[in-house]
Amino acid sequence: MTTYNHKVKVTAVATAVSLVLFGLVGCNSDSDNTTPTITKDNAYYKAQAEALIAKMSADEKMNLLIGPGYDMTSFTINTAAVTNLKGAVDGTAGYISGVLNTNQGVDVAAAVLADGPAGIRISPTRNGESGTFYATGFPVGTLLASTWNVALAKEVGAAAGNEAKEYGVDFWLAPGMNIQRNPLNGRNFEYYSEDPLVAGAIAAAVTAGSQSEGVATTIKHFAANNSETNRMNVDNIISPRALREIYLRGFQYAVETAQPWALMTSYNKLNGAYTSQRADLVTQVLRDEWGYQGLVMSDWFAGDDPVAQLKAGNDLIQPGGVNFANGGNHTDYLTRVKTAFTNGDISEEVITSDATRILTQVLKTTTNQGVGGGNNPDLNAHAQISKQAAEEGMVLLKNDNQALPITPGKKIAAFGIAQINTLKGGTGSGDVHSAYVTSIADGLARQFTLDSALKSFYDDFFAANKQETTDGIGISTIVSCVEADVSATDIATYAANDDIAVITLSRNSGESADRTDSAGDYQLTTLETNLITNVATAFHAQGKKVVVVLNVAGVIDTGWKDQVDGILLAYMPGQEAGDAVADLLSGAANPSGKLAQTFPASYDDVPSASSFTGVDSDTDGTVDTNYYNEGIYVGYRYYDTFNQEVSFPFGYGLSYTSFEYKNAAVASNTLDSQGATGSVTVTATVTNTGGVTGKEAAQVYIAAPAGTIAKPAVELKAFAKTAALEAGAAEDLTFTIPAKWLASFDDANNQWIVDAGTYQAYVSPSSDVSTTTPVTFTVSNKIVISNTTAGALALPTGVTASSFETVFTAK
Ligand code: BGC
Repeated sequence: MTTYNHKVKVTAVATAVSLVLFGLVGCNSDSDNTTPTITKDNAYYKAQAEALIAKMSADEKMNLLIGPGYDMTSFTINTAAVTNLKGAVDGTAGYISGVLNTNQGVDVAAAVLADGPAGIRISPTRNGESGTFYATGFPVGTLLASTWNVALAKEVGAAAGNEAKEYGVDFWLAPGMNIQRNPLNGRNFEYYSEDPLVAGAIAAAVTAGSQSEGVATTIKHFAANNSETNRMNVDNIISPRALREIYLRGFQYAVETAQPWALMTSYNKLNGAYTSQRADLVTQVLRDEWGYQGLVMSDWFAGDDPVAQLKAGNDLIQPGGVNFANGGNHTDYLTRVKTAFTNGDISEEVITSDATRILTQVLKTTTNQGVGGGNNPDLNAHAQISKQAAEEGMVLLKNDNQALPITPGKKIAAFGIAQINTLKGGTGSGDVHSAYVTSIADGLARQFTLDSALKSFYDDFFAANKQETTDGIGISTIVSCVEADVSATDIATYAANDDIAVITLSRNSGESADRTDSAGDYQLTTLETNLITNVATAFHAQGKKVVVVLNVAGVIDTGWKDQVDGILLAYMPGQEAGDAVADLLSGAANPSGKLAQTFPASYDDVPSASSFTGVDSDTDGTVDTNYYNEGIYVGYRYYDTFNQEVSFPFGYGLSYTSFEYKNAAVASNTLDSQGATGSVTVTATVTNTGGVTGKEAAQVYIAAPAGTIAKPAVELKAFAKTAALEAGAAEDLTFTIPAKWLASFDDANNQWIVDAGTYQAYVSPSSDVSTTTPVTFTVSNKIVISNTTAGALALPTGVTASSFETVFTAK
C-alpha cells in the first residue's frame, strides 16, 4: 500500500504574524456571524472574476492553479509560497494562492483550506498565542446520516461553517460522501451511507448550512473512493450504470440541490484513469450534465499529471509543490505547468477557464468578503448541537422486554475499556481537535450510580495499559488500550451488587488503511465474546438485564446479539459522546436514529466480500485493480433483491415509543402528463401510539416494474423525519419524488429512464417492507429523463460485462 507521510502534526510557524495582518489590512474585522455573507449569485462573482482575470498575466493565472506545497524541512504547508496570504491558520490542510498586482489594481487574498468532516480541523494552539482554537467535535458522518434529519444536518453544517469563519478558514474540506460499499473501508466513518439518496441529502444539507455562513464546502472524494488499500493508484472498474445510479448519484444530488462551492476529486483511478484526469467525469458529467458551478480541486498529491488534470477541468492542484506520488516526477508542479504552457502543451484558454472558476469561488470567501476571523465561536452552543446530533443519530438496535431506558440513579456495572477510552471520531484528516471528549463512564456517572469497584478497576487498567501511537500517515495521536479481562467470579459479584450491566465495545479506524474481517476488528475477540457471555450469564441468573453500547467506526459482527437484552449503536458520537449515550440510556432522550447502512448477518454475505479490496493483477505484491462485481446491488439493494437475511436492515432503528403508519396514498401523479418534469407525491400519517414523545424517520421505498432493465427489489426514493410527536400525536407526511430521481440508468442507450408499468410505493419504517402494504401508481409510456454524454465513464478497453465475476444468484 502506498501512503505518504505528508501530514505530520502541524506546529505553528507563521501565525503570530497573521493576526497582526488582520488588523493592518482591515480584513476580518466584522465578526457578526448572524448575517449571511453571500447574497449574490454565482454569476455575479464570475463576472467579477472574469474582469480580474482579464488584467492578469498567464503566470499570475497559473499561480492560482497550484497550491503552495510543503516546506520539505518541517513538512508543513509552505506558507512562504502562498501569494497574498493575509491570514495563515495553523494546522490547516493548505491554501489557494491569491493575487496581488497593485499596478493592475488586483488584490485577492489567499484562501485557507481546512479538513473535516466531523468539524473544522485546525491546530488548537498557535505559536506566540496564549488563546486556544479548539473546534467542536461533531459526530462522524455515519452518525449524522443516521439522524435522517436534514434540518439537523444543516444546523451542524452551519455550526461548523461558523467556526471556520470565526477561525479564518474559507474552504471546509468536507463533507465526505462516498458510498459505503463494503463495511471494511477504513474511511466509512467519514461517509454517510450505502444509499446515494441519504448521502446526497445529508451532504446537501451540510453544504447549505456551511455556505449560509459564507464558508465553502468541498464535497469529496469524487468519485468511487470506497477503499483505502493502495488508494492513490487502485483502478476501480465499475459499470457505467453502477457509477451513475450508486457512486455518482449522491454527488449529483448534492451538486444540483446545494451547489457546493468546491469539490475534491479522489485518489483512485476509475475505469483506467485517475478521476482528476478524466474530462468526462469532471467536465462533461459534473459541469455539462449537472450544471456544477464551483471549483474542482485534486486530493492531496493525487494523480500523476498536472497538465492532464488542468485540461480535464480539475482546476486546482493540491497541495502543489513537489508531487512525490507514484514514485513520480519530482519537479515542482507549478514549474511543470509553466513549462507545458511554454511548450504549447496547455493553452491559455484552459488556464484561463480553470483560474476563473477558482477565482469565482475565492472572491466569495469570508477572507475576501472581510467578515469573520473573530476567533470567538460560541463553542457552548455548538456543543449542544453536537450533542443533539449524536442523540438523534444513535440507533437503538435491540430492546427486549424494555431493558431500556434505565431509571436514573440505578446502579450500573459498566464493563469495557471504551467507557473510559471513548472514541469521538476516527483517525487521519477527519480527526478534529476538540477541547474535550466526555467519556461514556463520565456521562453515565452524571445520571446513574456506577459500581465504584468496577470503575476503579477500569481506571487502573487503563492507566497501566494505555498506549499512545501515531496513525499511519502521521496525523492523529491514537490512544488505545487492550480490553480488560474481568474474571467470571468478579462478574458474579457485580451481578449480585448492581442493577444492570452496560458493556461498551469500541473499534477505531482511519485514513490510509482498510479494516479487516478479523478478531479485534470486524469480528469480536475471544475476550470480548467471553465478556458478553459471562456478563449475560451472571446478570441473567440474577434476573438482571445486559445492554451493549457500540462505540465503533463502522459495522461489526453482531452474531452475539441474542445473548443481550439491549444494544445501542453509538458509532463515533463526537465530543459529547458520554452525555449523549447517558441521555439515551436514561430516557432523557428518546432514540430516533436509524441505520444508514445494513448490518449483515455475516461479513461473507456482503456482496463485495470476496472482491474487497481488489486484486494484484500484475503480481507485484500490491492490489491494483478492484472490480465492482456486484454492480448496482450494493447494501440493501442486494440483500432485499436476493433475499439475503441480515442482522439489522438498512433504515432500521427502535424507539422508546411506537409509531403507526396509516393512510398511505398516492396524492398526485404527473408522470404521464409532464414526463421528465413530472413527479409523484405520496402521503401518509405517522402516529405516536406509545407512551412517550418521539421522532420517527419514515422512508419511501419504490419497487419499480420490470421494464427494459433489471431493478433492485426496492430503492429508497424519499424520507422524512417527523417532529417530536407527543404520545398520541400524529403528523401527515408528504413525499414528492420527481421523475428524475425515480429514474434508472440505461447504459445501453446512455439515458436516464423511467420505465412504463406499475410502481409500488412502500411508506415504511425501514427497508424491510415485508409487512407494509404498498400503494401503487402507473407510468403509461417509458419516460426518457435525459440523454447523457455518449461513451462517458466507459469501461476500459477489453473489459466487458463478462469481465465481472458473478457474485450472487437469485435465491
Ligand atoms: C484526504 C482528504 C483531505 C486531504 C487534505 C487527503 O489525504 O484524502 O480527505 O482533505 O488529504 O488533508
